[in-house]
Amino acid sequence: MCITSAKEKNLKKGSLISIRTYYFYINISAMKEIVLELKDASIFQKDSLVLSEVSLKVEKGEFVYLIGKTGSGKSSFMKTLYGDLPLQKGEGHIVEFNLKTLKESEIPFLRRKLGIVFQDFKLLPDRNINQNMLFVLKATGWTDNAKIDAQVLSVLEKVGMKTKGFKFPHELSGGEQQRIAIARALLNDPELILADEPTGNLDPQTSVEVMKVLQEINKAGRTILMATHDYALILKYPSKTLKCDANKVFEVVQRAV
Ligand SMILES: Nc1ncnc2c1ncn2[C@@H]1O[C@H](COP(=O)(O)OP(=O)(O)OP(=O)(O)O)[C@@H](O)[C@H]1O
Ligand SMILES: [Mg+2]
Repeated sequence: MCITSAKEKNLKKGSLISIRTYYFYINISAMKEIVLELKDASIFQKDSLVLSEVSLKVEKGEFVYLIGKTGSGKSSFMKTLYGDLPLQKGEGHIVEFNLKTLKESEIPFLRRKLGIVFQDFKLLPDRNINQNMLFVLKATGWTDNAKIDAQVLSVLEKVGMKTKGFKFPHELSGGEQQRIAIARALLNDPELILADEPTGNLDPQTSVEVMKVLQEINKAGRTILMATHDYALILKYPSKTLKCDANKVFEVVQRAV
């Protein structure tokens, strides 16, 4: 009797565990959030076709490289994602926006959901770092001074530049300026960071330092899509890699990089 009930208990326990495991699995799959999806998209520069039949998905939390030789379409691809070039053909969804039906008036709201980092930093040269940050926050609707100060300090801390807020861009090294540009991209808590050759103007050692910052930001849960030429970085920090080549975008494994 005892043995039977113990068996029964184990059986019940076993089935419970497998049911739980099953639901856990379902939940995990349901939780996979897609932050970027393109289906059969074409990327144009004016009338000239740069990339075609682009289909891809980027999940929340991924770190994805975009590689390809100069002129292959990396920046055009990025520009389409942040609404600088219209998506003329195919489907595209990024964060909560439909790129196909994106209106001019929606572009600033799309950009608030994205953190954009460029090769040439694009800091405002006539004001210090704190004022650069303030400019973005005011332009995106922040009014509470205490919250502004706390947010500026928080993003500068994330990139190891907490004490540099009083400096002007020209008083910082290239690597420091890029860290500030990354901090600026984090100000509005973006769902996806688009970085177009963020290490393109930096020496190898400084590139690694900037990359460490991006890696930490990714480990903290943010999704990053980074265009790069820097294969040494990809080898050092391997991750999913998309390649632009012959007007197409496809995933490559590291051997083929
Ligand atoms: N503003 C523009 N007007 C017209 N054509 C452009 C423009 N910008 C880029 N192109 C063209 O689009 C194609 C893709 O350029 P893109 O800048 O996207 O390449 P890329 O992969 O980012 O190159 P790089 O590695 O040099 O940054 C190229 O043929 C380029 O000449
Ligand atoms: Mg480019």
